[in-house]
Amino acid sequence: MNKNIIDGKKIALKVSEDIKDKIRAMNRDYNTIPGLAVILIGDNPASLSYVRGKEKACNNVGIFTQTFAMPAESSFESISELILSLNIDERFHGILLQLPLPKHLDSEKLIELIDPQKDVDGLTSENAGLLLLGSPRFVPATPLGVQRLLIEENIKTDGAKILIIGRSNLVGLPLSILLLQKREGANATVTVAHTSTKNIEELSLDSDIVIVASGLPNTLLGRMVKKGSVVIDVGVSRMPDHTKKTGYKLVGDVNFNEVSQIVSKITPVPGGVGPMTIAMLLNNVYLAATFSLKKAN
Ligand SMILES: NC(=O)c1ccc[n+]([C@@H]2O[C@H](COP(=O)([O-])OP(=O)(O)OC[C@H]3O[C@@H](n4cnc5c(N)ncnc54)[C@H](OP(=O)(O)O)[C@@H]3O)[C@@H](O)[C@H]2O)c1
Repeated sequence: MNKNIIDGKKIALKVSEDIKDKIRAMNRDYNTIPGLAVILIGDNPASLSYVRGKEKACNNVGIFTQTFAMPAESSFESISELILSLNIDERFHGILLQLPLPKHLDSEKLIELIDPQKDVDGLTSENAGLLLLGSPRFVPATPLGVQRLLIEENIKTDGAKILIIGRSNLVGLPLSILLLQKREGANATVTVAHTSTKNIEELSLDSDIVIVASGLPNTLLGRMVKKGSVVIDVGVSRMPDHTKKTGYKLVGDVNFNEVSQIVSKITPVPGGVGPMTIAMLLNNVYLAATFSLKKAN
């Protein structure tokens, strides 16, 4: 791999191997196997593929996982019932509601029903609040994965100017809070841009690290980055590609060909942030199991 390309797969493998060892020890010492329940509503192809990836990763590290698939037209009440039953099901230390949900469902209300002690996606108001106040319990896996990539690559964040493009509850917003905290792998001066930001190019040219999570290919172009900066591409979009068996290829939010010529480090898509997101989810499930053990002892 090119020396300025960050190998997310390799780092994720290292993180997963570490979690596998910890789970083996937990099983040996406490006879406990961490469990993850995944709720999948409908048949969105991207969601199906993410869920399959999560199942495989759980199996690889020794996490027990079960996917609860429900039809796209499921009612709010039937999903609530499932969440409430999983909250008291001791086989599962973590519960994940695969997003996005079909339009007729209120995701925020359903997420709020998840027991915050099992909310391994870190999306309930309790867990978001704990992060905001600097005492995180579960941090959403993608922001956590981005931070871990920066740490593993020895990219200095302390005092760095970081621009995050995107302010979603899942990525941009929690990431901005995470990188702002006065602790290792953070302590940056963070700016968050969104669709109403007027001067993104000016901001990105002035940044040491640019993290793009807009969901829009080509949000970041070569002329928008300064020489030697670091770029992390969170975006994943499917582009038609008839040379591929699947009929599509995955692209990020960054114009990789242009930007990779200028920056000192960049994540590819695929193979950058994606594998780290899964690895950090495994980490959160393990963490949830340790919390439940502490409560029991
Ligand atoms: N690799 C992974 O593991 C992983 C995990 C999660 C998500 N993703 C990917 O990351 C991307 C973002 O996900 P998300 O859930 O955060 O998306 P989202 O909920 O659609 O949020 C996108 C954010 O980007 C902003 N935005 C959109 N276009 C912009 C532009 N041209 N300039 C500046 N800001 C812009 C939006 O601004 P407004 O708020 O003003 O609308 C919004 O805040 C998607 O491609 C998603 O598939 C990848």
